[in-house]
Amino acid sequence: MGEKKMTIGVLTSGGDAPGMNAAIRAVVRTADNYDYEVIGVRRGYAGLLDEDFCVLDTKSVGDIIQRGGTILYTARSKGMHLLETQVKAAEICRKNGMEALVVIGGDGSYRGALALSKQGINVMGVPGTIDLDIGCTDYTIGFDTSINTVTDAIDKLRDTSASHERCVIVEVMGRSAGYIALWSGIAGGAEEIILPESYDHNEQAIIDNLIERRKHGKKHHIIVNAEGIGHSASMAARIEAATGIETRATILGYMQRGGSPTCKDRVYASAMGAKAVELIHEGKKNRAVCHMNGVFTDEDLETAINMTKNLPDDLVNLSKNLIRRRSL
Ligand code: F6P
Repeated sequence: MGEKKMTIGVLTSGGDAPGMNAAIRAVVRTADNYDYEVIGVRRGYAGLLDEDFCVLDTKSVGDIIQRGGTILYTARSKGMHLLETQVKAAEICRKNGMEALVVIGGDGSYRGALALSKQGINVMGVPGTIDLDIGCTDYTIGFDTSINTVTDAIDKLRDTSASHERCVIVEVMGRSAGYIALWSGIAGGAEEIILPESYDHNEQAIIDNLIERRKHGKKHHIIVNAEGIGHSASMAARIEAATGIETRATILGYMQRGGSPTCKDRVYASAMGAKAVELIHEGKKNRAVCHMNGVFTDEDLETAINMTKNLPDDLVNLSKNLIRRRSL
């Protein structure tokens, strides 16, 4: 085999998300098609600073598309906000011949990527987070698997809360964003969905609603509470005290990040990982891979980081309308 034409690095950073392995696989196989070498960086930016590397080729990423987690391991990007760390990380990239680096992760990982780009490294961001909270893209790898996991959990909690005629508060992840709560709440037929973006902290309305539904013979009551609101256990205690209805809180936690990725996550992750390498091949610099209006596209990394997005009004309204109708 002759000299490789280019060397690119790939790392996963921040909270893991189902589909990250599919993205790594797509990066490696697309790069291989162009005869580029791929260095896998273990444990995100921490591993970059420790030069914890492995060479990835088409064979080494076989049999991972169906696996949750990330074969490269991941870590939170502590220290990457420091200029000296950014300079060191960029020097390590250069020393190891990495002409570009693909960063698969959420907004914190993107900030680390932007810092590296300011030190002269060509960085491509691939959105990997269950939270769906990256402004430049309408999809982030891992979201679909996560909401399916949550929906399944809500179905199970419905069974037991109906048997006991209880109210259940299901706390779901999402950091300060309510996407997981909104989608899984609609899919799980929740009576209340508490979203950080729109909650008015009127707990009395929730209590009144619960009492009203009980009067109409409803045997169970599901409240999906977003992590951005939190405090589900104390909320459950207050609701039980105010209504006399047994109320339990279940915090789903890290199970929402695990599991075999859904078909959607595998396909989107594959397309996004491949797109990152195509952008490098086209000579583009410092881009964020996005999915917008049905198309896989890209955006300037710095612009992407500064973009914000809101929960879709139509889904928020839908969730309220369906709940209202069910109470009659
Ligand atoms: O960003 C993904 C996520 O799971 C969030 O929903 C959650 O707030 C956070 O990560 C938890 O992070 P950690 O793994 O550091 O506890």
